[in-house]
Amino acid sequence: MNNIIKPEPTIIFIFGGSGDLANRKLIPALYNLWLDGNMPDKFRVVGLGRTKFTDDEYIREVNKGVNDYSRQKGSKDTWLKFTENVHYLVSDVFDDKSYKAMGKMITKAEKDFGAHPNVIFNLAIAPGLMDDVVTKLGESGICKDPECTRLVIEKPFGHDLESAVALNTLLKKYFDESQIYRIDHYLGKDAVQNILVFRFANLLFEPIWNNNYIEHVQITVSESIGVGDRGGYYDKSGALRDMIQNHVLQLLSFVAMEPPVSFESDEIRNRKVDVLRAMRRFKKEDIPMNAVRGQYSEGWAKGEKAKGYIEEVGKKTQTETFAAVKFHIDNWRWRGVPFYVRSGKRMPEKASVITIQFKSAPHQVFPEATATRVKPNRITINISPDTGIKIRFQSKRPGLDMMLNPVEMKFNYSETYTDKQPEAYETLLHDVMTADSTLFMRSDEVEAAWALLMPIITHWEDNLAYDFPNYAAGSSGPKPADALIAQDGFHWIS
Ligand code: BG6
Repeated sequence: MNNIIKPEPTIIFIFGGSGDLANRKLIPALYNLWLDGNMPDKFRVVGLGRTKFTDDEYIREVNKGVNDYSRQKGSKDTWLKFTENVHYLVSDVFDDKSYKAMGKMITKAEKDFGAHPNVIFNLAIAPGLMDDVVTKLGESGICKDPECTRLVIEKPFGHDLESAVALNTLLKKYFDESQIYRIDHYLGKDAVQNILVFRFANLLFEPIWNNNYIEHVQITVSESIGVGDRGGYYDKSGALRDMIQNHVLQLLSFVAMEPPVSFESDEIRNRKVDVLRAMRRFKKEDIPMNAVRGQYSEGWAKGEKAKGYIEEVGKKTQTETFAAVKFHIDNWRWRGVPFYVRSGKRMPEKASVITIQFKSAPHQVFPEATATRVKPNRITINISPDTGIKIRFQSKRPGLDMMLNPVEMKFNYSETYTDKQPEAYETLLHDVMTADSTLFMRSDEVEAAWALLMPIITHWEDNLAYDFPNYAAGSSGPKPADALIAQDGFHWIS
C-alpha cells in the first residue's frame, strides 16, 4: 500500500543533458522512478546540448552514468524499454531555433500522448547561462501554459544576495512562483524529511524542543573528499556559499521551525522563512567571534596522501573549504540557544549530523558517587551516510548497587525498513512531475538565506585570511573552529 501519486504525461527537457549532473543524478533518478513504476505512463526525456549526439549515442553516453551511479541497475531489457522514451536534441541555448525545435517536440508529444503533457525544463547549466536560458524560454512562447510548464533550477541560486534577487526578478517576469522549483537536494533525503515527522508526528519531543530544555544545537556537514575536478566552480564559491547558504540552513530551518498547521507547501515554507528571518544579523565587529573559515593543506585522507586545495586548483586562492558559524535565533523558542554549524571538505569522515544537546537535569537525585558518568540527554539526527536517530539517556547499570550509565536508543533506517531509500533526486523529480513544491526553496527563502550570510561574505572578502591554508587534509578543520565553540564551554561532537 502506498499513496504515491502517478504523474500525468510529461516531457522533460534537460539543459546540460550530457553534463555531469544529468549523468550522475538526473538520468539515474528518472530511470529508478521508471523501474519502480513511478514515472508517468507516457513520458519523454530530452537531453539538450551542443555535442552532436544522435539519440543512440546519447543513450550510450548516459548509460555509463547509470552503470556507475544508479541505485538500481535493472536489466538490459529494462534499460532498452526505458530509453525508448529518451531523446537528444542538439541545441544552442543562445539560438532561437533550438527553442522552436523544443516547441515542435512538445506538439509531437501531445499528439502521440493524446493529451497535453506537463513540460519540465531542468536547468542543469552553468550559472552564467541561466539568465539567457530563462529569457529565451520566457520569450519563446513555449511556456505559455503556467499550469503545465515547470522550471527546475539547480544550485547555485545566485552568487550573493544581489544576484539571487536579480535572478528571482527575471524568473518572475516570465513565470509564476508556482512554476519554479529551486532544488536543494538535501530536502529530497528521507532523513531530512524525517526531521519534520519526528518533531510533528510525535508528542514526546515538541514540548521540550525549546530553550527551557535545549542547551545548544550543532550541525556538521563534513566531507572527506576534496574538490577534485570541481575546482573551477568551487573556487568561485567556497564552503559558505556551497553548503551553508543552502543545505545547512535548510537543515537548521527544519530543526528550528514552528509547528506548521498542515503539510501544505506554502505553510511549511512560511515556517522555514520565519526561522531565517528571526536569525540574528551579524554586525561587522561580531563576525570574527562568530564565523571561522579554513582551507586545507596537504595531508592524509583515509590513509592516502591528499593534495592541498591550492595544489588542486593550481593557484593561490582565498576560497574557504571550511566554514563554521555560530548563529542565534531571536524568537521565544530559541532565545539564548546557540546553533553551531560547520561544513568542510577534506575532513576525516563524510557525515551530515544534527545534534540536539539538552541541558543537565535540574536536580541530581542520585548520590554523586553513583552518577559520575551521567551525561545530559542528547538527540543525534544522522542524515548521511547513516540515516536515523539516536537518543541518549541514563540507565541503571546491572548490579546490586545503583550505578548510572548513559545509553543510546537507536533508530536506523536500514535496520528498520526493508524498502530501499530513494535517492534525493528521485523524490524531487517526482515532486516536480506531480507539482508538489513543498521540498523546494521559494524565492523569499533563498533571499533570506543570502541576506543572513552577506555580512560574513563581505567581511571575508574585505579581509584576507593570512593563515590559509590552516588545516591539514584529513583533520577536523582549523583550530579557531574549536575555539568558536569552546568559548561557550562546549566542543564539537563527532
Ligand atoms: C553539493 C555541493 O550541493 O552537495 C558539493 O555543491 C557537495 O560540494 C555535495 O559535495 C554534498 O552532497 P551530499 O548529498 O553528498 O552530502
